[in-house]
Amino acid sequence: MIVKELRQPGVILICTDKDCRKDGCKQLQCDIRACIRNAGLKGSVRIQKTKCLGPCGKGPNAMVYPGATLFTRIGADDVAAIVEAAAVGAR
Ligand code: FES
Repeated sequence: MIVKELRQPGVILICTDKDCRKDGCKQLQCDIRACIRNAGLKGSVRIQKTKCLGPCGKGPNAMVYPGATLFTRIGADDVAAIVEAAAVGAR
């Protein structure tokens, strides 16, 4: 018998709805993508665009899985912590 453990990648859902677009979700996507690449986590952490996550006006907002951790008012200084949260959760 062969048993192979399948790992789920961490997922960062980035809200791209109206309010978060105004709050800079495009730049956030670029920053997170660059962070994933620079950390060598491509394939372990992926980005997915999503509709409204709820806390409109406090954006840009993102939800990290596994764990369903919501991040609001994300700034450039928060990107590494968000990617790390997704990577740790995926292990
Ligand atoms: S528009 Fe982004 S959380 Fe509602």
